[in-house]
Amino acid sequence: MLAVAGYQLGKRFCFLDPVPESPAGMLATQIVAPYDDVGALDELARTADVVTYEFENVPASAARWLETRVAVFPPPAALEAAQRRIEEKQWFEKLGIATARYRAASTPAELRASLEQVGMPAVLKTDSGGYDGKGQIVVRESQDPNELWERIGVADVIVEEFVPFDRELSIIGVRGTENNTIFYPLIENVHANGILRTSVAPAPHVGPRLQAQAEEIARALLQALDYVGVLAVELFERSGRLLANEMAPRVHNSGHFSIDGSVCSQFENHVRAISGLPLGSTAPIGRATMFNLISELPEIHALLAIPGVRLHLYDKRPRPGRKLGHATLVDADDKSLERVRELVAGVTG
Ligand SMILES: Nc1ncnc2c1ncn2[C@@H]1O[C@H](COP(=O)(O)OP(=O)(O)O)[C@@H](O)[C@H]1O
Ligand SMILES: [Mg+2]
Repeated sequence: MLAVAGYQLGKRFCFLDPVPESPAGMLATQIVAPYDDVGALDELARTADVVTYEFENVPASAARWLETRVAVFPPPAALEAAQRRIEEKQWFEKLGIATARYRAASTPAELRASLEQVGMPAVLKTDSGGYDGKGQIVVRESQDPNELWERIGVADVIVEEFVPFDRELSIIGVRGTENNTIFYPLIENVHANGILRTSVAPAPHVGPRLQAQAEEIARALLQALDYVGVLAVELFERSGRLLANEMAPRVHNSGHFSIDGSVCSQFENHVRAISGLPLGSTAPIGRATMFNLISELPEIHALLAIPGVRLHLYDKRPRPGRKLGHATLVDADDKSLERVRELVAGVTG
């Protein structure tokens, strides 16, 4: 999606992906190698004017290595901060950004103490490596910390208070190379089993105060990290107040709506930002609803027959919990939305 947006701006792309025949490989040269393969990184550094990443679990060491040879945006420091939940929370705290109560633990005894301090229910998460709700356990009642420790199976964990949020929102900010910062309107997100199902943007029932609160959070991070590119911050809204859940130093799934719903998409704005170009308008074209197509694809003919459906497929093999594509509708009527919902719910696990 970054490349599709970038081609319109006359850019050329080269991808590093350890998986042969990855979706991006359809669009441009693909170097198939592990992310930390020095030969592959060297080829990338020699080929590219600027390197970016759109997956959070690329080794930060690879980004650091590249940084000595070629411009890397977003800055590797942002990648490092986002890869470790404890460090990420510390960044939030340092910048005065409110979060759920949390404690770090690296032994079963510390886990026991952390659970007592945070209280029940709590969410136990691996410090690193998690995505789409993987590496998380919701602890609902008194459970044996030793058993939880075995189940989570890593050395560093974070225990968070379970936030009884009114809803989940996200804010997407973009910072250019000249400290120019813009934001998309708040997005309302629904997750199931830790995986994003739908996004609505602009989120309904958002006043200027809530939007300003979200922008303040994102702006603080963009500036503190001397950021260039798109940054997403996932938020919990509770009684009109925002808590930061996590940040993503990349184009974000909740921003996929912007391809069809915004004057300039998050993908184009990311390419513009990292290329030192002026940023494009984040104004909405209408109210967009984005449905993720997960695990299995719905009947494509039936989906495309619904007026207003814009379909984006990723050329990925079906697998339980895998995001295979998304469908967006802008200013759709209730009937069309309901029809898409039915088709998607019919196959999504
Ligand atoms: N502390 C929490 N309280 C309530 N729900 C949570 C909490 N942490 C995570 N969740 C739920 O799980 C989802 C995935 O968790 P998240 O921390 O964003 O990890 P991931 O890296 O897998 O996206 C969140 O979007 C939210 O729906
Ligand atoms: Mg998340």
